Amino acid sequence: MAVTEGLNLTLKVWRQKNSQDKGKMETYQVSNVSPDSSFLEMMDILNEQLVNEGGEPVAFDHDCREGICGMCSLFINGEAHGPSDQITTCQLHMREFKDGETIYIEPWRAKAFPVIKDLMVDRSAFDRIMASGGFISVNTSGNTQDANAIPINKHDADEAFDAATCIGCGACVASCKNASAMLFVSAKVSQFALLPQGQVEAKQRVENMVAQMDEEGFGACTNTGACSAECPKGISLENIARMNREFIKSSFS
Ligand code: SF4
Ligand code: FES
Repeated sequence: MAVTEGLNLTLKVWRQKNSQDKGKMETYQVSNVSPDSSFLEMMDILNEQLVNEGGEPVAFDHDCREGICGMCSLFINGEAHGPSDQITTCQLHMREFKDGETIYIEPWRAKAFPVIKDLMVDRSAFDRIMASGGFISVNTSGNTQDANAIPINKHDADEAFDAATCIGCGACVASCKNASAMLFVSAKVSQFALLPQGQVEAKQRVENMVAQMDEEGFGACTNTGACSAECPKGISLENIARMNREFIKSSFS
Protein backbone atom coordinates (compact mmCIF):
# COMPACT_ATOMS: atom_id res chain seq x y z
CA MET A 1 0.00 0.00 0.00
CA ALA A 2 1.35 3.44 -0.95
CA VAL A 3 2.22 5.67 2.00
CA THR A 4 1.47 9.36 1.45
CA GLU A 5 3.93 11.81 2.95
CA GLY A 6 2.48 14.39 5.35
CA LEU A 7 2.97 18.11 4.74
CA ASN A 8 5.00 20.36 7.03
CA LEU A 9 3.61 23.87 6.81
CA THR A 10 4.14 27.36 8.19
CA LEU A 11 0.84 29.13 8.82
CA LYS A 12 0.57 32.91 9.09
CA VAL A 13 -2.83 33.39 10.71
CA TRP A 14 -4.74 36.62 11.45
CA ARG A 15 -5.49 36.81 15.18
CA GLN A 16 -7.84 39.47 16.52
CA LYS A 17 -9.45 39.31 19.98
CA ASN A 18 -12.58 41.26 19.05
CA SER A 19 -13.87 43.94 16.67
CA GLN A 20 -12.03 46.69 18.63
CA ASP A 21 -8.67 44.92 18.72
CA LYS A 22 -6.12 45.95 16.08
CA GLY A 23 -5.21 42.35 15.27
CA LYS A 24 -1.98 40.90 13.84
CA MET A 25 -0.56 37.93 11.98
CA GLU A 26 0.78 35.07 14.15
CA THR A 27 3.05 32.29 12.91
CA TYR A 28 2.38 28.60 13.61
CA GLN A 29 3.96 25.36 12.43
CA VAL A 30 1.90 22.25 11.67
CA SER A 31 3.53 18.99 10.69
CA ASN A 32 2.61 15.75 8.98
CA VAL A 33 -0.70 17.05 7.60
CA SER A 34 -2.30 14.53 5.25
CA PRO A 35 -2.64 15.89 1.67
CA ASP A 36 -6.08 14.23 1.70
CA SER A 37 -7.34 16.33 4.57
CA SER A 38 -9.46 19.37 3.87
CA PHE A 39 -8.26 22.89 4.65
CA LEU A 40 -10.65 23.12 7.60
CA GLU A 41 -9.42 19.75 8.93
CA MET A 42 -5.92 21.24 8.81
CA MET A 43 -7.27 24.19 10.84
CA ASP A 44 -8.76 21.66 13.30
CA ILE A 45 -5.28 20.09 13.67
CA LEU A 46 -3.81 23.54 14.37
CA ASN A 47 -6.51 24.25 16.96
CA GLU A 48 -5.98 20.89 18.70
CA GLN A 49 -2.28 21.68 18.86
CA LEU A 50 -2.98 25.17 20.30
CA VAL A 51 -5.37 23.79 22.93
CA ASN A 52 -2.85 21.08 23.94
CA GLU A 53 -0.22 23.79 24.36
CA GLY A 54 -2.59 25.83 26.58
CA GLY A 55 -3.23 28.45 23.87
CA GLU A 56 -6.46 29.78 22.42
CA PRO A 57 -7.84 28.10 19.29
CA VAL A 58 -8.32 30.15 16.12
CA ALA A 59 -11.96 31.18 15.62
CA PHE A 60 -13.24 30.52 12.08
CA ASP A 61 -16.69 30.03 10.57
CA HIS A 62 -17.94 26.73 9.17
CA ASP A 63 -21.05 24.58 9.22
CA CYS A 64 -21.91 22.08 6.46
CA ARG A 65 -18.33 21.50 5.21
CA GLU A 66 -19.95 20.43 1.92
CA GLY A 67 -19.97 23.69 -0.06
CA ILE A 68 -23.65 24.34 0.63
CA CYS A 69 -24.16 26.69 3.59
CA GLY A 70 -21.79 29.56 2.71
CA MET A 71 -20.40 29.86 6.24
CA CYS A 72 -16.71 29.14 5.58
CA SER A 73 -14.94 32.30 4.56
CA LEU A 74 -11.16 32.32 4.54
CA PHE A 75 -8.87 34.49 2.46
CA ILE A 76 -6.03 32.07 1.68
CA ASN A 77 -2.79 33.30 0.12
CA GLY A 78 -4.62 36.41 -1.07
CA GLU A 79 -7.58 34.60 -2.66
CA ALA A 80 -11.10 34.19 -1.35
CA HIS A 81 -11.64 30.45 -0.68
CA GLY A 82 -8.03 29.74 -1.71
CA PRO A 83 -6.30 28.84 -4.95
CA SER A 84 -8.81 26.45 -6.58
CA ASP A 85 -11.64 27.67 -8.83
CA GLN A 86 -15.34 27.41 -7.98
CA ILE A 87 -15.02 25.72 -4.61
CA THR A 88 -15.51 26.91 -1.04
CA THR A 89 -12.81 26.83 1.66
CA CYS A 90 -14.34 23.67 3.13
CA GLN A 91 -13.96 21.89 -0.24
CA LEU A 92 -10.30 22.88 -0.59
CA HIS A 93 -7.83 20.05 0.05
CA MET A 94 -4.28 20.18 1.34
CA ARG A 95 -3.00 18.42 -1.79
CA GLU A 96 -3.21 21.87 -3.43
CA PHE A 97 -0.26 22.96 -1.25
CA LYS A 98 3.39 21.93 -1.23
CA ASP A 99 5.48 20.54 1.60
CA GLY A 100 7.37 23.39 3.29
CA GLU A 101 4.95 26.04 2.00
CA THR A 102 3.95 29.15 3.96
CA ILE A 103 0.19 29.77 3.89
CA TYR A 104 -1.35 33.15 4.72
CA ILE A 105 -4.84 32.91 6.26
CA GLU A 106 -6.95 36.03 6.74
CA PRO A 107 -10.61 36.95 7.25
CA TRP A 108 -12.83 38.63 4.63
CA ARG A 109 -11.83 42.31 4.64
CA ALA A 110 -14.73 44.74 4.13
CA LYS A 111 -16.18 47.59 6.19
CA ALA A 112 -19.64 46.04 6.00
CA PHE A 113 -18.25 42.70 7.32
CA PRO A 114 -16.58 43.68 10.63
CA VAL A 115 -14.30 41.06 12.21
CA ILE A 116 -15.92 39.40 15.24
CA LYS A 117 -12.85 37.39 16.26
CA ASP A 118 -9.79 36.06 14.40
CA LEU A 119 -11.11 34.77 11.06
CA MET A 120 -14.83 35.21 11.78
CA VAL A 121 -16.65 38.18 10.29
CA ASP A 122 -20.18 39.49 10.82
CA ARG A 123 -22.13 38.91 7.59
CA SER A 124 -25.51 39.91 9.01
CA ALA A 125 -25.56 42.77 6.47
CA PHE A 126 -26.48 40.06 3.91
CA ASP A 127 -29.34 38.89 6.15
CA ARG A 128 -30.71 42.43 6.36
CA ILE A 129 -30.55 42.77 2.56
CA MET A 130 -32.50 39.51 2.22
CA ALA A 131 -35.04 40.60 4.81
CA SER A 132 -35.62 43.83 2.87
CA GLY A 133 -36.88 42.01 -0.24
CA GLY A 134 -35.30 38.60 -0.91
CA PHE A 135 -38.57 36.67 -0.69
CA ILE A 136 -41.97 36.22 -2.32
CA SER A 137 -45.31 36.47 -0.50
CA VAL A 138 -47.50 33.44 -1.18
CA ASN A 139 -51.04 32.66 -0.09
CA THR A 140 -50.72 29.44 1.91
CA SER A 141 -54.43 29.04 2.68
CA GLY A 142 -54.60 25.81 0.69
CA ASN A 143 -55.82 27.34 -2.59
CA THR A 144 -52.32 28.06 -3.86
CA GLN A 145 -51.54 26.98 -7.40
CA ASP A 146 -48.92 24.23 -7.59
CA ALA A 147 -45.67 25.90 -8.72
CA ASN A 148 -45.06 23.02 -11.14
CA ALA A 149 -48.34 23.83 -12.92
CA ILE A 150 -47.03 27.25 -14.02
CA PRO A 151 -45.23 26.92 -17.40
CA ILE A 152 -41.74 28.51 -17.39
CA ASN A 153 -39.46 28.37 -20.40
CA LYS A 154 -36.31 26.29 -19.97
CA HIS A 155 -33.91 29.20 -20.46
CA ASP A 156 -35.48 31.28 -17.68
CA ALA A 157 -35.76 28.29 -15.36
CA ASP A 158 -32.07 27.47 -15.87
CA GLU A 159 -30.97 31.08 -15.35
CA ALA A 160 -33.08 31.40 -12.21
CA PHE A 161 -31.62 28.17 -10.89
CA ASP A 162 -28.06 29.33 -11.60
CA ALA A 163 -28.71 32.60 -9.74
CA ALA A 164 -30.24 30.69 -6.83
CA THR A 165 -27.04 28.68 -6.36
CA CYS A 166 -25.50 31.72 -4.61
CA ILE A 167 -24.77 30.56 -1.05
CA GLY A 168 -24.27 34.04 0.43
CA CYS A 169 -20.65 33.42 1.41
CA GLY A 170 -19.45 36.96 0.72
CA ALA A 171 -16.36 36.02 -1.32
CA CYS A 172 -17.56 38.47 -3.99
CA VAL A 173 -17.42 41.33 -1.48
CA ALA A 174 -14.02 40.24 -0.15
CA SER A 175 -12.56 40.02 -3.67
CA CYS A 176 -13.85 43.39 -4.87
CA LYS A 177 -11.52 46.37 -4.51
CA ASN A 178 -14.60 48.43 -3.50
CA ALA A 179 -16.15 45.68 -1.33
CA SER A 180 -19.23 45.80 -3.54
CA ALA A 181 -22.11 43.40 -2.86
CA MET A 182 -23.59 43.75 -6.35
CA LEU A 183 -22.98 40.12 -7.38
CA PHE A 184 -24.71 38.73 -4.29
CA VAL A 185 -27.67 41.15 -4.43
CA SER A 186 -28.08 40.71 -8.18
CA ALA A 187 -28.16 36.92 -7.84
CA LYS A 188 -30.86 37.22 -5.19
CA VAL A 189 -32.87 39.70 -7.30
CA SER A 190 -32.45 37.55 -10.45
CA GLN A 191 -33.63 34.29 -8.92
CA PHE A 192 -37.06 35.95 -8.52
CA ALA A 193 -37.02 38.37 -11.48
CA LEU A 194 -36.78 35.45 -13.92
CA LEU A 195 -39.82 33.63 -12.55
CA PRO A 196 -43.54 34.53 -12.65
CA GLN A 197 -43.72 34.10 -8.86
CA GLY A 198 -41.30 36.99 -8.47
CA GLN A 199 -43.21 39.51 -10.59
CA VAL A 200 -45.77 40.74 -8.05
CA GLU A 201 -43.19 42.30 -5.73
CA ALA A 202 -40.49 42.93 -8.38
CA LYS A 203 -40.47 46.74 -8.16
CA GLN A 204 -40.35 46.94 -4.38
CA ARG A 205 -37.87 44.08 -4.14
CA VAL A 206 -35.14 45.60 -6.28
CA GLU A 207 -35.59 49.08 -4.81
CA ASN A 208 -35.53 47.86 -1.20
CA MET A 209 -32.61 45.47 -1.65
CA VAL A 210 -30.46 48.06 -3.43
CA ALA A 211 -31.32 50.69 -0.78
CA GLN A 212 -30.39 48.26 2.03
CA MET A 213 -27.16 47.31 0.24
CA ASP A 214 -26.18 51.01 0.12
CA GLU A 215 -27.18 51.56 3.74
CA GLU A 216 -24.94 48.68 4.87
CA GLY A 217 -21.88 50.48 3.44
CA PHE A 218 -20.94 48.19 0.54
CA GLY A 219 -19.01 49.92 -2.24
CA ALA A 220 -19.93 50.60 -5.85
CA CYS A 221 -19.43 48.12 -8.70
CA THR A 222 -16.71 49.01 -11.22
CA ASN A 223 -17.26 45.98 -13.50
CA THR A 224 -13.77 44.52 -12.97
CA GLY A 225 -15.27 41.03 -12.55
CA ALA A 226 -13.13 39.92 -9.58
CA CYS A 227 -16.37 38.96 -7.76
CA SER A 228 -17.46 36.49 -10.42
CA ALA A 229 -13.92 35.11 -10.90
CA GLU A 230 -13.65 34.28 -7.17
CA CYS A 231 -17.25 33.18 -6.64
CA PRO A 232 -17.36 29.50 -5.60
CA LYS A 233 -20.63 29.06 -7.48
CA GLY A 234 -19.59 30.83 -10.70
CA ILE A 235 -22.38 33.42 -10.41
CA SER A 236 -22.33 35.38 -13.67
CA LEU A 237 -21.93 39.15 -14.10
CA GLU A 238 -25.06 38.98 -16.28
CA ASN A 239 -27.01 39.05 -13.02
CA ILE A 240 -25.65 42.52 -12.27
CA ALA A 241 -26.80 43.74 -15.71
CA ARG A 242 -30.23 42.17 -15.05
CA MET A 243 -30.49 43.86 -11.64
CA ASN A 244 -29.59 47.22 -13.19
CA ARG A 245 -32.35 46.70 -15.79
CA GLU A 246 -34.82 45.75 -13.05
CA PHE A 247 -33.85 48.86 -11.10
CA ILE A 248 -34.31 51.20 -14.08
CA LYS A 249 -37.61 49.47 -14.95
CA SER A 250 -38.83 50.01 -11.38
CA SER A 251 -38.35 53.78 -11.65
CA PHE A 252 -40.76 53.89 -14.64
CA SER A 253 -43.51 51.78 -13.13
S1 SF4 B 1 -22.35 35.65 -5.48
FE1 SF4 B 1 -20.86 33.97 -5.20
S2 SF4 B 1 -19.25 34.85 -3.94
FE2 SF4 B 1 -21.03 36.21 -3.74
S3 SF4 B 1 -22.14 35.49 -1.95
FE3 SF4 B 1 -23.03 34.42 -3.73
S4 SF4 B 1 -21.88 32.48 -3.86
FE4 SF4 B 1 -20.67 33.82 -2.51
S1 FES C 1 -18.84 25.12 5.60
FE1 FES C 1 -20.70 25.23 4.44
S2 FES C 1 -20.02 25.97 2.51
FE2 FES C 1 -18.15 25.69 3.63
